[in-house]
Amino acid sequence: MRKISILGTGYVGLVTGAGISEFGHHVTCVDIDKEKINQLNNGKIPIFEPGLNSLLKSNSKKERLFFSADIEKAIKESDIIFIAVGTPQKNSGEVDLRYVESVSKTISKNLNKYKIICTKSTVPVGTGELIEKILLENNDRSDFGYVSNPEFLREGSAVKDFLIPDRLVIGARSEKAFSIMKEVYRPFFINETPIVNTSVETAEMIKYASNAFLALKISYINEIANLCEIVGADIHHVAKAMGQDGRISAKFLHPGPGFGGSCFPKDTMALVNMGKNFNHPVKTVEAAIEVNKEQFLRMVNKIDSLLDHQVSGKKIAILGLSFKPQTDDIREAPSTKIIPKLISKGAKINAYDPVAIENFKINYPDLNYFENWEDTVKGVDACVILTEWHEFRGIDLRKLKMLMSNPIILDTKNILSIKELKKLDFKYENIGRKI
Ligand code: UDX
Ligand code: UDX
Repeated sequence: MRKISILGTGYVGLVTGAGISEFGHHVTCVDIDKEKINQLNNGKIPIFEPGLNSLLKSNSKKERLFFSADIEKAIKESDIIFIAVGTPQKNSGEVDLRYVESVSKTISKNLNKYKIICTKSTVPVGTGELIEKILLENNDRSDFGYVSNPEFLREGSAVKDFLIPDRLVIGARSEKAFSIMKEVYRPFFINETPIVNTSVETAEMIKYASNAFLALKISYINEIANLCEIVGADIHHVAKAMGQDGRISAKFLHPGPGFGGSCFPKDTMALVNMGKNFNHPVKTVEAAIEVNKEQFLRMVNKIDSLLDHQVSGKKIAILGLSFKPQTDDIREAPSTKIIPKLISKGAKINAYDPVAIENFKINYPDLNYFENWEDTVKGVDACVILTEWHEFRGIDLRKLKMLMSNPIILDTKNILSIKELKKLDFKYENIGRKI
């Protein structure tokens, strides 16, 4: 059993803290936000993430998971410190490292014995070196071991991704640091989870290279889907057959309104900026970002065409606000790109999401929000599905048609049956499936 503290209790920090305590370690999750810590100490989870609630509760009950706003105490009492604070994007597109630097300074001043300092937050290559420099301002190299241990947690399935990872990446500066991390993640070693034992810089790069590749895959399939519409091919069959080729794999080949979330948009921009800084443009990723921006606009144009270019004054129902199902996270969600464009064209928006409405209301308080899809679509001129929540997959199209003023629908996630839409005489659009 090791004493561990996790600095930053956002999505990643909380899931990591809960997951590591499940392995039997004594974990303290720390945050600068005292209100958040109070909530957590009262059993309230600030985010919607399947499986997280029970993991937090059971480990708190077993007295191996704690929440605190006292960062200095947590650092002093820990053997291993994970940095999981936010790394937002600056206006320039570069990563804002001010929180990483600030917690590193606090760690630097409170190193009272040999500790492992391990970064979970996604940080540009070279940040490990920067953190070590800050640690060395008040300590010697022998006082700490530095590790980069990037996360690959998808929101909505983060708990599962943490407990059953495809691989574990550990970029350690020394053998000693690696063997301590090996002990932290002992269950993975027993399970024979593939472990990548590498350098700090390589670990940092693996994270960006992986996320940017997945983003590339999505932009690629979106472009092919758009082309399918023009040539009369069906993207479902194209993607399925492509995915059956083991070299390609079927994952992340689903076309949609464009990728969102707290990672892909930020990480692709960061990689592009990293390339620019080293005078080595990463052109494929630049193109993926461009394609993604255009994909959002393409959705607006599709709605415009479905409404015969008369969006002004029309009532449009939006089903799905979160950037993907099973999360209440709306960061960079397609809804945040498409809804403002429709409003600027004079549309009136009815909106519904099973869990993300409260988050959406913060920036968009004036939409008409509803508590179920049925009320949302009542009397509307068009309906747009932006997130593939299960409850939208099962929508009764007959009922939908009856409730709407006009049976017009844009299914950006290709979850509805074209056969049935046709049978019911819907005017419809999707992504890459004209036939
Ligand atoms: C974070 C990183 O931003 C991202 O790069 C990485 O890939 C995953 O981890 P996330 O967990 O989603 O993402 O961040 P966020 O939800 O913004 O949470 C960060 C937390 O850190 C917040 O609770 C914030 O209050 C806390 N924080 C921030 C601190 O405790 N101290 C600080 O100095 C700054
Ligand atoms: C991502 C990474 O997958 C994960 O490893 C971690 O680094 C955090 O960032 P996340 O952003 O939570 O996870 O969700 P993900 O499932 O990757 O989806 C990202 C976006 O891509 C969503 O908007 C989703 O709708 C979109 N997407 C995904 C597609 O449009 N098509 C696909 O086939 C897959």
